Amino acid sequence: MSENETILELKSVSKSYGSGHTAVEAVRSVDLAISRGEIVLIMGPSGSGKTTMLSMAGGLLAPTSGEIVMSGQPLSGLDSRGISQLRLRQVGFVFQAFNLLAGLSALENVALVMNLAGRHDGTVERDSRALLSRLGLEKRLSHVPADLSGGEKQRVALARALANDPPLILADEPTGNLDSKSGREVMDLLVELAREENKAVVIVTHDPRIIDIADRVLWLEDGLLAPAKPQSITS
Ligand SMILES: Nc1ncnc2c1ncn2[C@@H]1O[C@H](COP(=O)(O)OP(=O)(O)OP(=O)(O)O)[C@@H](O)[C@H]1O
Ligand SMILES: [Mg+2]
Repeated sequence: MSENETILELKSVSKSYGSGHTAVEAVRSVDLAISRGEIVLIMGPSGSGKTTMLSMAGGLLAPTSGEIVMSGQPLSGLDSRGISQLRLRQVGFVFQAFNLLAGLSALENVALVMNLAGRHDGTVERDSRALLSRLGLEKRLSHVPADLSGGEKQRVALARALANDPPLILADEPTGNLDSKSGREVMDLLVELAREENKAVVIVTHDPRIIDIADRVLWLEDGLLAPAKPQSITS
């Protein structure tokens, strides 16, 4: 597999919410190509369309117009079931609010995603344990989310995102609910895993400290994408 293989393409992607005089053009004609091994930051003010763009990029939200191509597959050619199946293997999501299942242990949260991808044998528990251990959670396997710290919850979420070894990780303000030390740890892990396994990682963040580790920084403003200007980032 080539290192520069394009894993995700947005072709003139737009999204409007609502209609008539209340319509909001959240994302406007965005063109973007992401390759394996790249760490791409997306920055921009609140309400500029970052979450909308990331949700469309991962097939969670359909664009109003334009095309999204995930691992060579145009999403417009798939029904919602087809998109879900593709997403399970191609994309790992990490959210600001962790979005773990409250009734399941750390181990079960990770194993579930492997089950959903059709794996039900004994390797599921083994691999879930290994992944959580790699993220420093070997002593937290049977804890439910309520009994974990924020940083630990986000590491479980990271393990879950990686469960099916997807080539693409999409993270929406993954450190937004963490103190700076836990945030740094989660971000370092995200980057380390990306580099080691040649994954594409797209991170939406307000945190300018993360700029140094990115291969590319993009700036979204009023739904329009542009390469970031350094002076815009620091504000
Ligand atoms: N479901 C929705 N229905 C209507 N409007 C929406 C919806 N979701 C988002 N919007 C609007 O679309 C625009 C972009 O929102 P979005 O959540 O993508 O911004 P964001 O850049 O992620 O902001 P933040 O940094 O605050 O998370 C905003 O004007 C928002 O009010
Ligand atoms: Mg957002």
